[in-house]
Amino acid sequence: MVNPLHEELKRFLARDDIETIKKTVDDDPWRLAYHVMPPIGWLNDPNGVMQYNGIYHLYYQYSPHAPEGGLKYWGHATSEDLVHFVDQGVALYPDQPYDLHGVYSGTAFVEDDQIHYFYTGNVKQLGNHDYITSGREQNTIHAVSHDGGKTIEKVECVIPASEYPKQFSNHIRDPKVFKLGQTYYMILGTRDLKGRGQVITYHSTDLSNWTYHGVFAGPLEGLGYMWECPDYFTLDGKGILIVSPQGLEAKEHEFQNIYQAGFLIGELDQGAIQFEALNRFVELDRGFDFYAPQTFLDQQGRRILWAWMGLPSDDPKISNPTIERGWQHAMTLPRELTIEDGRLMQGPLPEYQKLRGQAFEQFVSLKGAYQNEQMKGEVFEMIVEIDQVGDQFKIHLRQDTLLQYDSKKQLFSLILAESGYGREKRSIELKSLNHLQIFSDYSSLEVFINYGEYVMTTRVYPDSQHDRICFTGEANITVKKWDLKNTSL
Ligand code: FRU
Repeated sequence: MVNPLHEELKRFLARDDIETIKKTVDDDPWRLAYHVMPPIGWLNDPNGVMQYNGIYHLYYQYSPHAPEGGLKYWGHATSEDLVHFVDQGVALYPDQPYDLHGVYSGTAFVEDDQIHYFYTGNVKQLGNHDYITSGREQNTIHAVSHDGGKTIEKVECVIPASEYPKQFSNHIRDPKVFKLGQTYYMILGTRDLKGRGQVITYHSTDLSNWTYHGVFAGPLEGLGYMWECPDYFTLDGKGILIVSPQGLEAKEHEFQNIYQAGFLIGELDQGAIQFEALNRFVELDRGFDFYAPQTFLDQQGRRILWAWMGLPSDDPKISNPTIERGWQHAMTLPRELTIEDGRLMQGPLPEYQKLRGQAFEQFVSLKGAYQNEQMKGEVFEMIVEIDQVGDQFKIHLRQDTLLQYDSKKQLFSLILAESGYGREKRSIELKSLNHLQIFSDYSSLEVFINYGEYVMTTRVYPDSQHDRICFTGEANITVKKWDLKNTSL
């Protein structure tokens, strides 16, 4: 049956001026060379990430009409190698009574060659509502693909908002599904009526009939009023719960962004299906732009995480000048998660080594400043092995980015000035600094510290052609730097 709203939305996306908008977007020098971006408009959370028959699929929250954010669709990109991506257009439109105000975040679950999707259908009722305790429906929708993920067919609303337990507010969303024994479990992020974030569980034996099971995790003291985008998996025998909580109080160096994204390591009680956190909540990234991560297990058995390299635009201090050029936000690089000595580590994927071009390598016994005509760039990867650090060690990049280690204060900082558009300083308490792996793109920077013990991610908007790389302070360093190729070429 033809769905006239669907047809209309599709027509709107194919209208004449799209080419003009696309040209403005493509001409922007801040477009990234090797990150997934919205073709036009706005992007937020990664959705339905998976590998199927060798092909990697990344769906994402997408507002093609509004770079400042608007009605949410699912965009779609595929890749054979996790490095080069092909835009597959819109995968899901907000075209049903149960998802009219947005096809919100969700997951893909593959079993017996069948790809299932579960997502949140957002509906806002007219009237005088606070949209927290009334006026909002967040339905859970089941969809499937019959062509390996290329197109998605909505099946039915499996949990209508009216059926959620009454102790929760209207905010219940972002399903993630996993299987234990013969039972499927779906976890959802919520805000309860007392204003506390939690994760709840439903169970099912057929993926179509879902029964409320109970609270999976939370509330936890100091962990906010709403938990978005829950993800649960085991890694090296440990239970990991990832959530994006809202409403945390900033500490001296932690929880500095408007909203956080991080993990709890703990144990799942397999009878009750309750997660007990054994460690405190730890942020996954200590930079300015990281939110709503989602993970999947690839066919090599790697636990890979993708996140939105951005945050909801509720912080008036921080801005993204690409809005005027018709687009906003991007995905982080995909990262592999591992456990080492009981700690969760994050590392860039070896696949990205294929982008390495012109190389530069140098040992420097640094005292003062070091710069080299052959060592500069805007789009590059740089590994710095660091030894014998004096009081201060600094790396100056591009227009005004500063990475700084103060060994007396044992503090590693990322500092931006004008090119940060409101982003100023983030710091990590760090006993010693021995390794940095830096990925710089035209308007982003990802810094893996001490082999992925910490990561700092930021958007940064230098004026064109700022390609400085300079070291100051005192340390013995071995620098390896490669220009990185543009994946769209
Ligand atoms: C997180 C989030 C999700 C929601 C989606 C809507 O950034 O708020 O909770 O499903 O974005 O775009």
